[in-house]
Amino acid sequence: MNIDEIIGKLTLEEKASLCSGHDFWHSEAIERLGISSVMMCDGPHGLRKQVGEGDHLGINVSIETVCYPTASALASSFDRSVLERLGHALGKECQAENVAMLLGPGLNMKRSPLCGRNFEYFSEDPYLAGELGAAYISSLQSEGVSACVKHFAANNQETCRMSGSSNMDERTLHETYLPAFEAAVKKGKVRSVMCAYNAVNGTFCSENKQLLTDVLREQWGYDGLVVTDWGAVKDRVKGLEAGLDLEMPGGGGVQDAAIVKAVRDGELDVAVLDKAVRNLLNFLSDWEEQKQDGVSVDRSELSTLSGKLAEECAVLLQNDGILPLNKNSKVVFIGEYAAKPRYQGSGSSHINVSHPVGACETAPEIPYARGFDAHSDIPDEVMLEEAVELAQKAEVVVLFVGQSDAYESEGADRMTMELPTNQNALVEAVASVQPNTVVVLHGGAAVLLPWADKVRAVLQMHLGGERTGEAAVRLLFGKANPSGKLAETWPLRLEDNPSYLNFPGFNGEVEYREGIYIGYRYYDKKKLAVKYPFGHGLSYTEFTYSDLALEKDSITEGEAVTVTCKVRNSGNAAGAEVVQLYIGEANPGVARPVKELKGFEKLFLASGEEKTVSFSLDSRSFAYYEPRIHDWFVESGKYVIEVGSSSRDIRLSGEISMTGSREIPIYYTRTSTIGDLLKSAKGRAFMEQMMQKLHGSEEAKKAETDNLNNMGEGSERMAQTMMAEMPLGAIVTFGRMTDEQLDGLIAMLNS
Ligand code: BGC
Repeated sequence: MNIDEIIGKLTLEEKASLCSGHDFWHSEAIERLGISSVMMCDGPHGLRKQVGEGDHLGINVSIETVCYPTASALASSFDRSVLERLGHALGKECQAENVAMLLGPGLNMKRSPLCGRNFEYFSEDPYLAGELGAAYISSLQSEGVSACVKHFAANNQETCRMSGSSNMDERTLHETYLPAFEAAVKKGKVRSVMCAYNAVNGTFCSENKQLLTDVLREQWGYDGLVVTDWGAVKDRVKGLEAGLDLEMPGGGGVQDAAIVKAVRDGELDVAVLDKAVRNLLNFLSDWEEQKQDGVSVDRSELSTLSGKLAEECAVLLQNDGILPLNKNSKVVFIGEYAAKPRYQGSGSSHINVSHPVGACETAPEIPYARGFDAHSDIPDEVMLEEAVELAQKAEVVVLFVGQSDAYESEGADRMTMELPTNQNALVEAVASVQPNTVVVLHGGAAVLLPWADKVRAVLQMHLGGERTGEAAVRLLFGKANPSGKLAETWPLRLEDNPSYLNFPGFNGEVEYREGIYIGYRYYDKKKLAVKYPFGHGLSYTEFTYSDLALEKDSITEGEAVTVTCKVRNSGNAAGAEVVQLYIGEANPGVARPVKELKGFEKLFLASGEEKTVSFSLDSRSFAYYEPRIHDWFVESGKYVIEVGSSSRDIRLSGEISMTGSREIPIYYTRTSTIGDLLKSAKGRAFMEQMMQKLHGSEEAKKAETDNLNNMGEGSERMAQTMMAEMPLGAIVTFGRMTDEQLDGLIAMLNS
């Protein structure tokens, strides 16, 4: 495709028409110039290709395909290779169905357990979401199909989803809500980005120049296509100016006419329109080159893959040793989800599956009682009685419970962290007659487990895709060993969650007042007890950590450092461990979390086997976002490197000194303090001279000691703090300098 030539030949009307979809899922074609239309489809944990009437709510049917574990499950694998295997599989399915763009992955942070779409999002941790997102994107795109990361940015709830504003300070936006997208661009090399419905700080994402141009294109170097979320356009012309290329779905030509009029009236420079057209043509031309004819996929193979991934994502939350189950014990299954598993969420990501596999189908010899109605909250006495009766006859009961479809879906936030009443009643009733009760959970986010102490094990299957029931059975009976870790903290109470006071906001204004303290960053800082910490997950074997080694004990900004340690499978079963590396600054000069995840590796180890794991830490691993320089900043100082099995199960720790290479520029005024002088090289040089003058002689030192002694105990710290807090203007007030001298000093400091 000769893009310059085509742009030269397109009429104004044709250019405008290319900037919106032809219909619900296709881009516009212009046959006279050989521009063909391409198809975009929802995913991202399967291919939702609608051939009949289109909708973005998961209502009308789509082709039958394979449903894989959803993002919140995938993230719990803590394993880039899980995302890679999925990306390749989806890429092939898209090629087979002639789909150029798969709408996902969703890289929004799990700010509150109540967000209705949490099952579509990876984590409360931006690093984890970014690493896994990038792995998914690069493997999908290596098959020639474009990923479309969504929803850019700060789309963390469903309440007021098309009209609300996520309001936060600059540091929070850059440090918490943007890095996963940044990794998608820089590491995953994503080719399309979907802007969110919501506004950020009052400006809708679809017309937010700061996000779509300044950050995305200028800071991160993105050169792909920017698409709207379906129906997210507010003012189309403003959108173009902000950096929005393609409006989806087709708006019936209304917005195209607005574009034409704006150019004719001289309100929109045609060069701006050309830029959007060029981005689209680049995208189309890539697809022309990469699309493959005659690809076919073996659905049964992909379905097997789905089950395998579900196994690798499951998290064993607690286990007193009852799991794995002995195949000779008399086990029964109770709970509707044993027969009809809940394996995906509702909304635009809903995949049409021909045959989801439940635990009952996998192990038909195991007796079963329904226990509850998944479409209701009200305990059913008959079902309860039947369940209790079956439980009494068994040696072990496995209960299959979880959030119901009505509780978590796109379009509406959850109202509570509780499970439906009838399910809690069922667990209580069964556990009261059967001491050997195991719970299998389904759901895309943290829930409350008021009965956790009354059951012997809890296995979280998340929304594990179409083979989740089979995966659960393999894990329960030890044919597979759980190795997933929680990608989000499970608090003891909803009220403990940092967003609690400001979720979901009022009148569409959502204040992110917890700032950078989301998830474990908050719980750790507050030293709060939690139900299950971030990174937690048990195994049927045990792992021993040793020999933490830091390649260097001090580094300068710009240098990388390698950290290694050994991990041994010291138990009797083969298994996998997710080794997690966290960094915390020992004495930060600004508010910082106690520690943050900066590395993770999943190791597969046979019983008795030992491997060395290695992490490479670059300067960004130590940095925080500094609004005074509008950039990431590495502070000089000591940093603690911790390696462990969860955020609250740290096994090894070491320390490293970092020398930063930048200073935060300070503009001095009379209200700057003496302490501020220590924050710049010129200030420090001045202070040194002063100290020399004031305390240089023996008499001066003695006078100072006498003074301090006269002031009483603790006076040294008091005197130092008072001095540090003193504004520069006070030097004149206390007669130590003239006004002119102080002006001269300030001018020198600012020069
Ligand atoms: C959702 C997107 C989805 C799009 C197309 C929107 O309502 O927010 O995630 O990709 O519809 O179905």
